[in-house]
Amino acid sequence: MLICENISKTYKKGSFFSKKEETKVLNNISFQLQEGRSIGFVGRNGAGKSTLMKIILGLERADSGSIIFMGQNIHNLKYSQRKEIYKNMQIVFQDPQSSMNPNMTVFQIICEPVNNYYKYSIDELRNIVKDLLKSVELDTNIIDKNITMLSGGQQQRVAIARALAIKPKVIILDEALSNLDMVIQSQILKLLEDLKEKYNISLIVISHDIRVVFKLCDDIIFLENGEIKGNFNVENGVDMENTAFQKMLVF
Ligand SMILES: Nc1ncnc2c1ncn2[C@@H]1O[C@H](COP(=O)(O)OP(=O)(O)O)[C@@H](O)[C@H]1O
Ligand SMILES: [Mg+2]
Repeated sequence: MLICENISKTYKKGSFFSKKEETKVLNNISFQLQEGRSIGFVGRNGAGKSTLMKIILGLERADSGSIIFMGQNIHNLKYSQRKEIYKNMQIVFQDPQSSMNPNMTVFQIICEPVNNYYKYSIDELRNIVKDLLKSVELDTNIIDKNITMLSGGQQQRVAIARALAIKPKVIILDEALSNLDMVIQSQILKLLEDLKEKYNISLIVISHDIRVVFKLCDDIIFLENGEIKGNFNVENGVDMENTAFQKMLVF
């Protein structure tokens, strides 16, 4: 469903006048994600995880390599084709506050992606949003509350509901659980496990917490300085003696 081939990316650092320094952020990254399966990316800060996701989402362009999503090379798509195909890929960020407009209500936030793609009456929309709130185990009576009135855990559930709203095939979670305390984190982890099964959604999970990735993913990729240092299949059982695996555990 998603094929990344030999993705490389270099950022030029430095001001306009100083000599520009090039940093290679991603070096020859290749992996595949099959429908209904989930993949995790683990690595320390600056390893290139978010940059890779931006490239996959078409928000940044790779210097070389290709992204094939649902059979289409995303760099060759026209705007309308791109919009249609990215219906199938949604993202949940680490910090719900920075990814949701503080002036909006829960209803407005969850409606946004739906309105981008479909025309529904207000009554229909309210029913859709209520169903989504139920599926992320939130009380439907918060529907007209301002997003800032909710707790961090509730806000992240709203972000997940918004990601689910147009029934994507893939949801990217970029450190989506990292700002939550342990109890809320394990509740949302459980929720994501259930939703993944229920809707047959593939997750791309970015985390510096290996436990999160182990819980949600079939395959795990260890990134270091923009390079793949290890690729582990969880179902087949990971060889604990593997040096790359041991390195990932203590990175
Ligand atoms: N827009 C940008 N311009 C220049 N450097 C960037 C930019 N975005 C990220 N970087 C650099 O790329 C590297 C990888 O960043 P990032 O992909 O955010 O890593 P991660 O998500 O794994 O923490 C870092 O060294 C970061 O400073
Ligand atoms: Mg990041």
